[in-house]
Amino acid sequence: MPTSQQNDTAGSLRAVVIAMVCFAVLISCTVNEPEVAIDTSVNIGEHSIPDSDNTFGDWPKHGRNHFEQRFSPLSAINKNTVERLGLAWEHNMASLRGLEATPIVIDGVMYVTSTWSRVSALNAKTGKLLWAYDPQVPRAWAGKVCCDVVNRGVAVAAGKVVFGSLDGRLIALNANDGSVLWEVDTLPDREQWYSITGAPRIVGNRVFIGNGGAEYSVRGYVSAYDLNNGDLLWRFYTVPNSVDGPFDSAAMETAAKTWSKSSALDGAGGTVWDSMAYDPALDLLYVGTGNGSPWPKYTRSPGGGDNLYLASILALDPASGELVWHYQTTPGETWDFTATQHMVLADLDIQGQTRKVLMQAPKNGFFYVLDRQTGGLLSAQNYVYVNWASHIDMNTGRPVETGLADYEKQDRYVFPSAAGGHNWQPMSFSPDTGLVYFTARDIGWVHSMAEDKWFTYGADNLEALIGEQSVPETSGYLKAWNPVEQRLEWEIAIPNIWNGGVLSTRGGIVAFGTAMGDLQLVDASSGSLLKTINTGTGIIAPPISYLIDGEQYIAVLAGWGGPAFNTLQGNEALLEYENRGRLMVFKLDGGPVSLPLTREPPGAFPKPPVSSASAEQIERGRQLYVLHCGACHGVYDSIPMLPDLRRMTEATHQLFERIVLGGIYEAKGMPSFADALSSEDTFAIRAHIIDRARKAGRLTVELPEP
Ligand code: HEC
Repeated sequence: MPTSQQNDTAGSLRAVVIAMVCFAVLISCTVNEPEVAIDTSVNIGEHSIPDSDNTFGDWPKHGRNHFEQRFSPLSAINKNTVERLGLAWEHNMASLRGLEATPIVIDGVMYVTSTWSRVSALNAKTGKLLWAYDPQVPRAWAGKVCCDVVNRGVAVAAGKVVFGSLDGRLIALNANDGSVLWEVDTLPDREQWYSITGAPRIVGNRVFIGNGGAEYSVRGYVSAYDLNNGDLLWRFYTVPNSVDGPFDSAAMETAAKTWSKSSALDGAGGTVWDSMAYDPALDLLYVGTGNGSPWPKYTRSPGGGDNLYLASILALDPASGELVWHYQTTPGETWDFTATQHMVLADLDIQGQTRKVLMQAPKNGFFYVLDRQTGGLLSAQNYVYVNWASHIDMNTGRPVETGLADYEKQDRYVFPSAAGGHNWQPMSFSPDTGLVYFTARDIGWVHSMAEDKWFTYGADNLEALIGEQSVPETSGYLKAWNPVEQRLEWEIAIPNIWNGGVLSTRGGIVAFGTAMGDLQLVDASSGSLLKTINTGTGIIAPPISYLIDGEQYIAVLAGWGGPAFNTLQGNEALLEYENRGRLMVFKLDGGPVSLPLTREPPGAFPKPPVSSASAEQIERGRQLYVLHCGACHGVYDSIPMLPDLRRMTEATHQLFERIVLGGIYEAKGMPSFADALSSEDTFAIRAHIIDRARKAGRLTVELPEP
C-alpha cells in the first residue's frame, strides 16, 4: 500500500468535515454589473481565422479548437431567445456516478464517454444510438483511483475515435462502427496505481495522452502515439527517477538538481492527468503537471528544493517530446496544488501589444497569464482567497510564501484547499467579451504531518488554526475574469463548491451546470441570470454547442461524482433524486425536462448485529475504514453516493468478508481488497461500522449502550 494514499484519503476526509464545519448557507447570488464593452476588434487567436464551413457548427476537439477556448461561434441561442430553450433529446448513460466528459460533434455525429471509459456514438440531431463500445475495464481498478471511475472524453480525427481507459490503455475505434482499430497499454507496469481519466489530444498523426495516480506514488509522464497504428513515438517523464542519474533526458538532469539528495524518487508524482493545449503556429504542445507524491515536501524531498517539474506548465516539441520551456506554478509543491487545470491560449492586447498568451487558473488560487512562446510570466493575481502565498513576485515569477501554510511542525488551515480554487472543470474564453469564465471555490483544508491525524475526520481546533486570519465563508462561484486587467469582472455565488465546466458563445451566453442539477445560462457581459433549467441531476461536466440543419444545440452530461468530498453541503441533487447519468441536449422551442425518480428517504437506521470486538479493534477498524473505504462509501456524517455501510442488512453483514476480500461484488464496482487487507482487518472494519451504526441508530431509534 503506497504511503501517499494515506495523505490523500485522510486529507480528503478531513476536508469533508472541515467543509461541513465551515459550511454556511449562501442565499444571495451577488451579481455586480460593471460596464463591459464588447470589443470585437480583440485579436482572437485561432478564431481570427474564420471557421471553415464544415467545422463552424461542430465541436471537433476537446476544447473546441487547439487553443482550448471552449467558445462557440454560434449565436441563435442568445440573450433574446434563450428563454425558449428546452429539451431536444436525452440519452441514458447507464451510470450512477460522475460524468465528466466533453462530447465531440463532427458531421452530425456525437462521440461521448461514460463511466468505466465506455464510448458511444449518437446521431447528434435525434439522439439515436449509432454504436457503443465498452473496453471492459476490470472493476477492481476502481480501487486504484482517487476520484471516481470518470472519463473526460475522446479525440476524433481521420475517421478514428481515440480514448484512454481507466486501466491505462489507449484505444482507437473506427468512427463508423466502433470496431477496434488498435489498442496499446500505456503503462510501464500494471502493478502500479496509474489510471487514465483525461481525454487524449490529436495533432496531425500524433495522439498525446498522460495519466493519473500522483496520490499513489507513480511517476508522471506524457506519451505520443502514432494515430495510424498506436506505435509509441516518445515519452516525456515529468519527474526524475533518481537524483544521481542516469537520466532519461536532459530535462531530467536539470530537474534532479531541484530535489534533495535524500529524496525518495521511486514515484514522485507530477502526473499529466488532464490539461493540454497546442499552438499550431509555434508548434508547441502545452501540458500541465500534477502534485507531488507524497504530498508533504518535508518527507518527499527533506532537504528542500523546487522539485521540478511538479505543478508546472511544460511546453514540449510535439515531434520529439523535448522540453522547450517550463513554468512552475508552485515550487516545492506540498498542498496538492496541481497545475493540471485547463489551459486556454489566446492572443490578447496587453498594454498596446498583441501578446500570445497561455492562461491557467490552477489549484493554488492564482490566475496566470504567460507568454506562451517563452514561458515568461505576464501576470498572476489571486482569483480566490489565498493564504499560502502573499503574491507572485513578477521579477522571479515565484510565489512569496507567507509561512501560514508550512505544516512541517504544526497543523495549518490552508486556502485554497486540495480541491483547488479551481479544478479540472474547464474554463471558457470569449473573444467577444475578452473574459475567462470558470467555476471556482473558497474552501480551506487542514494539512497535518501528525500520523494519528491522518485518521481524524476533522480538526477540532479549527478556531485556533484560523487565529487572526479572516477566512472567507465556504462557497462556490462562477467567476468572470479579465485577464488583461487581471481582475474579477463579476461573479455569481453558487451554494455548493463542486460544479460544472463552462461554455461561452457568440450569442453572448455563458452556460454551466451546478451540483443542484441546474443548467444556468447567464449574460456573458453582466453575469445576470437569463435562464435556469433544472435537470434534477448534479452537473460537473462542461456544456458544448453545435449546429445541425441550421439549428443550434447545447449539450451537457448530467451525473455528479468525483472525489470524496461529495455530498457535504446538503443541497446536492443526488440527495433528492437518483443520480441517473444522462446526456441532455437542448434547443430553442424544445420540450420540458422530466426529473429523475426521487430517492427514498433513508429512514431509521436498522439495528446492527452484536459485535464482540474490543475498543482497540474498533479503533483499528476506523483507521482502516478511513484509509480504504471512506473515499467511496463516505464519512459517517455525510451521505455517500455509494451504499452507506451503516445501513447494511443482516445478509450483507454475513457476506461482508466475501464482498471485501472475495471480490464477489467486483462487477458492481466494489473492488476486492485481498491484496491490502487480512481477515482480521475486515473484522475490525466491520466492528467499526457496527459501532458507528449503533451511534447513528441511537439518534433515531434509541438503542441501548452495548
Ligand atoms: C472504489 C470505490 C469503493 C471502495 C474504495 C470501496 N467500495 Fe465498497 N462498494 C463500492 C461499490 C461501487 C459497491 C456496490 C454498490 C452497488 O450495490 O451498486 C460497494 C458495495 C459494498 C458493500 C455492499 C453494501 C451493500 O449494502 O450491499 C460492502 C459491504 C462494501 N462495499 C464494503 C467496503 C469496504 C469495507 C471497503 C473498504 C475496505 C469498501 N467497500 C471500499 C465501491 C467501493
